[in-house]
Amino acid sequence: MGRKRKKKIVENLLITGLADKGKGMGRDAEGRVIFVEGRVAPGDVVDVLIKKRRSAFWQGFVIAFRQMSEERVQPFCKHFDSCGGCTYQHLPYEAQLRYKEARVRDILQRIGKIEPGEFLPILPAEPNVFYRNKMEYAFSNRRWLTAEELAQPEISNREDVLGFHRAGAFDKIVPIDECWLQEDPSNEIRNFMGELARQQELPFFDLREGSGMMRHLLIRIATTGEIMLIVSFFQKDMQAIRCYLDAVLRRFPQITTLAYCINPKANDYILDLDMHIYHGKGYIEEKLGDLRFKIQPKSFFQTNTRQAVRLYDRIIEFAGLDGSQTVYDLYTGVGSIALYVARAAKKVIGIEEIPDAITDAIENARINKIENCSFYAGDVRKVLSKAFAKRHGKADLVITDPPRAGMHQDVVDFLLQLRAPKIVYVSCNPATQARDLQLLSEAYQVEKIQPVDMFPHTYHVETIALLSLKTMENGE
Ligand SMILES: C[S@@+](CC[C@H](N)C(=O)[O-])C[C@H]1O[C@@H](n2cnc3c(N)ncnc32)[C@H](O)[C@@H]1O
Repeated sequence: MGRKRKKKIVENLLITGLADKGKGMGRDAEGRVIFVEGRVAPGDVVDVLIKKRRSAFWQGFVIAFRQMSEERVQPFCKHFDSCGGCTYQHLPYEAQLRYKEARVRDILQRIGKIEPGEFLPILPAEPNVFYRNKMEYAFSNRRWLTAEELAQPEISNREDVLGFHRAGAFDKIVPIDECWLQEDPSNEIRNFMGELARQQELPFFDLREGSGMMRHLLIRIATTGEIMLIVSFFQKDMQAIRCYLDAVLRRFPQITTLAYCINPKANDYILDLDMHIYHGKGYIEEKLGDLRFKIQPKSFFQTNTRQAVRLYDRIIEFAGLDGSQTVYDLYTGVGSIALYVARAAKKVIGIEEIPDAITDAIENARINKIENCSFYAGDVRKVLSKAFAKRHGKADLVITDPPRAGMHQDVVDFLLQLRAPKIVYVSCNPATQARDLQLLSEAYQVEKIQPVDMFPHTYHVETIALLSLKTMENGE
């Protein structure tokens, strides 16, 4: 039998910065980097129970606060302590921006070994509450219990709740009755739908046993005022589904699209399921600047509409188009960046793996009377090829906006062969972006970096990087 390692506690650790996923960081007396979980703020002094020891760092969680940072503010959301969403709400917005900017700078240097020509100050979001156009909630028959509740054996977690997944507890849900992220009537809709399911005695999903009826709720509210709901059920009991959805429509006649799907799988992922339009036109319309976008239930769309306009304006600025360029827009979604830059380009070619999103992109070009864009469905890794580049003409600019995992190595390799004079790389994950920039540094230099705050009060940060092709010594 292996000997148990003695518990290690680091005492009086000063938190000096914020790292990945909102963890705090500091250095112990030996100069070792310690990552700390548990809602810390720079300036806090804490005791940390270490649970992971690596040669480059240790990681643990707070067991005692010795001193609270002077920078701390009172979080405005009553769910802050239990909900894992807005991890930075205990910091003033100006400080959140400062720490996000510092993190991007640090990651670029550490992972990417990048020294950009220019590092622009982070673009703040305005407004910084009620900024999301999409929210997702889970139904569960198990409530997440706080540490105090856990200590009271008479309190049971068996309760039908609708809310957010608790980070690290896949089967437990934090019930939410007021969220500051999406405009009204979002809170009213979620609260009503939870209560209605309880009244109609529809069983809430049991994630451990894989049983129940009510699974998942997605609410989209566009700046156009349109509302789309997607409700996911475990079983196809059409009588119960109709009774539930009809009651929702009676209470909220302003819903423009109500869709549902049947999810018999173990996970909550709904993009691989058939969507059934129960009411309305089957999509939602959103505006970005003077462009209109049609978004179907499964399509990706920027979640912070107002900040997306600022993000896209900066992309246009970085792109420096004069109407003569051929642009590839990789990971185009419903074509929003492609259509946004189209009027400044000769032509734009968008690639996206979700076929419904490509259908929307084509329709969005038509709605906006844009005729110089074409869109292709498929994995960028497979669609982007020498033959593709020959058919569409060599790219003068590549815009790439991959998911959190970043670009596949094959895509990076292809870009190195394609040698477009400029790349604008938009990313929601600075770590994978830094990795890709490092790989691209073989042929590209980073001219500018622009961090953008798309998600205030969370640890997330978006970054735009402008890359230009290095000139070869032989003048190529
Ligand atoms: C961060 S979103 C960007 C969407 C779009 N550029 C925008 O601003 O709305 C990433 C998009 O990449 C798509 N995607 C993910 N992996 C892909 C792949 N391997 N090939 C093509 N598209 C992919 C997703 O469906 C999603 O629409």
